[in-house]
Amino acid sequence: MDMKTRIQEKFKTLFGGEGDYFASAGRINLIGEHTDYNGGFVFPGAIDKGMIAEIRLNGTEKVRAFALDLDEYCEFGLKEEDKPAQSWARYIFGVCREIEKRGGKIAGFDTVFAGDVPLGAGMSSSAALESTFAYALNHLFNLGIDKFELARIGQSTEHNYCGVNCGIMDQFASVFGKKGNLMRLDCRSMEFEYFPFDPTSHGYKLVLLNSCVKHELVGSPYNDRRASCERVAKVLGQEFLRGATMEQLDAVKDRISEEDYKRARYVIGEEKRVLDVCDALAKGDYETVGKRMYETHWGMSRDYEVSCVELDTLAEIAEKCGVTGCRIMGGGFGGCTINLVKEELYDSFIGTAKAEFAAKYGHEPKVIDVVISDGARKL
Ligand code: GLA
Repeated sequence: MDMKTRIQEKFKTLFGGEGDYFASAGRINLIGEHTDYNGGFVFPGAIDKGMIAEIRLNGTEKVRAFALDLDEYCEFGLKEEDKPAQSWARYIFGVCREIEKRGGKIAGFDTVFAGDVPLGAGMSSSAALESTFAYALNHLFNLGIDKFELARIGQSTEHNYCGVNCGIMDQFASVFGKKGNLMRLDCRSMEFEYFPFDPTSHGYKLVLLNSCVKHELVGSPYNDRRASCERVAKVLGQEFLRGATMEQLDAVKDRISEEDYKRARYVIGEEKRVLDVCDALAKGDYETVGKRMYETHWGMSRDYEVSCVELDTLAEIAEKCGVTGCRIMGGGFGGCTINLVKEELYDSFIGTAKAEFAAKYGHEPKVIDVVISDGARKL
């Protein structure tokens, strides 16, 4: 039974009748990691895995929500003091609160939702959830909120209700995603451009290998990285690290910690890599794209220190198999690598990666073929 039908059946059993259906997507990011909160560039796209929610207004001031994948029910009010205990429900609650903080008037609703973005894989299942509800409530209550603000509502939900000081990339990708296109977003000006992306027409495939090491951004490691960047920007007298040069960084080296120096070095390097990749793609130069991806991987591993042994192993295997590009995708600390691989190498690479990874860690990485798809929408 497909996801929508399962949702429909559960909704009927729990609440009777039928509501409207809304969906949003998880994302990939070709390059530009940990640059969003530094005012830099990112290069994501929405994928064909996401969330679907059936929603119907219930005429009360209460939300009654059922998470189908977890088989859990939760009921909560819409006031600040009604914050639910379950972490999944806080995403929905947070979206409601952030809409109200912006002057949008909403009321109670019934919902059943489910998703197929693997949790903790660095593919933004939480952004998919936030965007689905932000988009849906905007529609159902006729609030007229623009798409950027919908993305910001998701981001503020993470900041204020989920403990992650994230940037805007995931929610942006999930709201603005367009089939067959990546998007280069300037996170300082919020200008963006769609880039048609069809690696198959150049003989390449884009595939994710999920290490199945669950990444958890809640808590200190992610927020710590962001704090390091903000400290260095302050010493440089800038609002963001964006636009800083290595020379400027070296000039303040003795005023910052070794750790902050390395983290800032990674971010400054990443800035240039994103722009390089966009130029290379425009020329169909996939070799350069791939080289920059490996550089990002090792920068994230050695300087930014957001990798883990399993992800480093996957990058080493990719390199050995002649894969064009490979790197950690998303926040890090587990999750997936994103791989750009020539079609003729695909089968042997996947076979080798599965066997060598399993021999070391006792389980195979999960293979996820990437299909670039649409973002938030009503079904
Ligand atoms: C997480 C955050 C994003 C971004 C990435 C790293 O996915 O939610 O805002 O910072 O990590 O690029």
